Amino acid sequence: MLLGDFRRRFGALLRGRTLEGAVGTGLNLPYYSPAVTEAFGVDFSIGMLREARQRARALGLPMRFVQADAQALPFPAAAFDTVAISLALCTVADPPTALREMARVCRPDGRIVLLEHVASPVGPVYALERLLSPLQERQMGCNLTRRTVDTVRELGFRIEAEESRWWGVFRLVIARPPAL
Ligand SMILES: C[S@@+](CC[C@H](N)C(=O)[O-])C[C@H]1O[C@@H](n2cnc3c(N)ncnc32)[C@H](O)[C@@H]1O
Repeated sequence: MLLGDFRRRFGALLRGRTLEGAVGTGLNLPYYSPAVTEAFGVDFSIGMLREARQRARALGLPMRFVQADAQALPFPAAAFDTVAISLALCTVADPPTALREMARVCRPDGRIVLLEHVASPVGPVYALERLLSPLQERQMGCNLTRRTVDTVRELGFRIEAEESRWWGVFRLVIARPPAL
C-alpha cells in the first residue's frame, strides 16, 4: 500500500537482458515490461526463489533463477542491459559491495533501477525510523536508516531520475553505472 504504483513503474523501467538482485518471492514479476527480452533473478534464499519460480511460471514468464549472494554475482562483467533491485539494499550486509556488483554486471550504457526505502530527510520521520529500526532489524533483518541513494551517488553512479514518496522514505531511482 505504501508503495503506491512504484512496483508497476519499477517493472516498466526494465529493458532487454535484465537481472533482478535479491528478487525475493518475485513481487515485481507481474509488472515486468514487455521490453524485457531475458530475465534472471538472484536471491540467497532457496525458499524465496521457490516462490518466485512458481510466480514466474503462473505468469508465463520465462525467467531463470540463481541462488547467489547479491554481493558476489555469478555473472560476467557487462552481462545485462538492466540491473534492478527493490527493497533489498536495506537488508544486504554491505550495500556498497552489492551496488558495485550491480555496476560490474551492467553494460556501461545500461540502466540501474532501484526501488528502496531510505532514511527520510524529514527530521521527525527520520526520528521514527531510528526508533523502529532496531526492532525491524531484529525481526526482518531490515535497516530503516540507510542512506542508500547517497551511497549510490558517492559510488559514482549517475542518477538520471529520482522520485520519492512518504517524506522521502521510498525512492525510485534510474541510474547509469559509474564510468570505469
Ligand atoms: C525484503 S525482501 C525484498 C524482496 C523483493 N526484492 C521485493 O521487492 O519484494 C529482501 C530480499 O533480499 C534477500 N537478500 C538479502 N541479502 C541478500 C544477499 N546478500 N544476496 C542475495 N539476496 C539477499 C532476502 O533473501 C530477501 O528475499
